[in-house]
Amino acid sequence: MERRDFIRLSTLSVGAGLVAPVIAVAETDKHLKGAADIYYTKDTQGRWNGKAATHLPSIDVEKVGNKATIKVVTAHEMKGYEHYIVKHVLLDQNYKFLQEHLFDPTKESAAISSFTLTDYTGPIYVGSLCNKHDLWLNGADV
Ligand SMILES: [Fe+2]
Repeated sequence: MERRDFIRLSTLSVGAGLVAPVIAVAETDKHLKGAADIYYTKDTQGRWNGKAATHLPSIDVEKVGNKATIKVVTAHEMKGYEHYIVKHVLLDQNYKFLQEHLFDPTKESAAISSFTLTDYTGPIYVGSLCNKHDLWLNGADV
């Protein structure tokens, strides 16, 4: 390989390396937009239409000073590992993970959790995951 070809090939490789991450990010964004189909809400119950009453988490926020207590209830049966709520996940206004509560259906008879936030103001979201009926999302203001 002549030196000129080597330099040209090296330049192409570096260029491809710079372009490839941009393509990868664009592909990731495309997939994230489709992610809305993997959780359900009161208004978008999808294939689990009619199951909101027992799967949509209810959220109660009590704020005292800079401390907020968030109580979450999913009115769902806890029938051992056969059918139960696996976890509640607390997300911030940008859908970033804050906290979670994992349930043990052999010890907990109700899907009730409590979270504490300090110095937080704005929307929050809570996901409630059923082992059979997927992830349900609800929101509240803190
Ligand atoms: Fe369920």
